[in-house]
Amino acid sequence: MAENLEIINGTKEEKYQSLLPQIKGLLTGEADLIANMANVSAALKEQFQWLWVGFYLVKNNELVLGPFQGPVACTRIQKGRGVCGASWLQASTLIVPDVNKFPGHIACSSLSKSEIVIPVIKDGEVVAILDVDSTEYNFFNDTDKHYLEIITTLIGF
Ligand code: SME
Repeated sequence: MAENLEIINGTKEEKYQSLLPQIKGLLTGEADLIANMANVSAALKEQFQWLWVGFYLVKNNELVLGPFQGPVACTRIQKGRGVCGASWLQASTLIVPDVNKFPGHIACSSLSKSEIVIPVIKDGEVVAILDVDSTEYNFFNDTDKHYLEIITTLIGF
């Protein structure tokens, strides 16, 4: 396992291209989901310096906070609530350019301005979501969607 990440400057695409093999290296040979979610959160945070990045896990029909990097966050989210609950309900990635305009957005931090949420789907069911928050409006696009969806498939759910 690599002990140090190589962090690069460059375009968003270049950053993901650099990070992806490193994340694969971090996950290789480790089957523990908590360990893998923790390292993926840390690697993404270190490369991108987003406000918040982490996982919520579906437990007893609600989302419960999992491994993350960033400010403290709300611990439980109901299905359909907020961006995370909506992504879970729809089983699809949601890109929110301005969280203030998203009905029911849950403001864990007033610094969050835009957000992307990726559902992790196993055997046709959403088992977790990956949530990323930025301090800038309109920060996430299809490049983030593309790479973050790949990364969620690598964790080993
Ligand atoms: N903003 C999210 C809640 C989770 S935090 O951003 C970490 C939402 O609306 O679901």
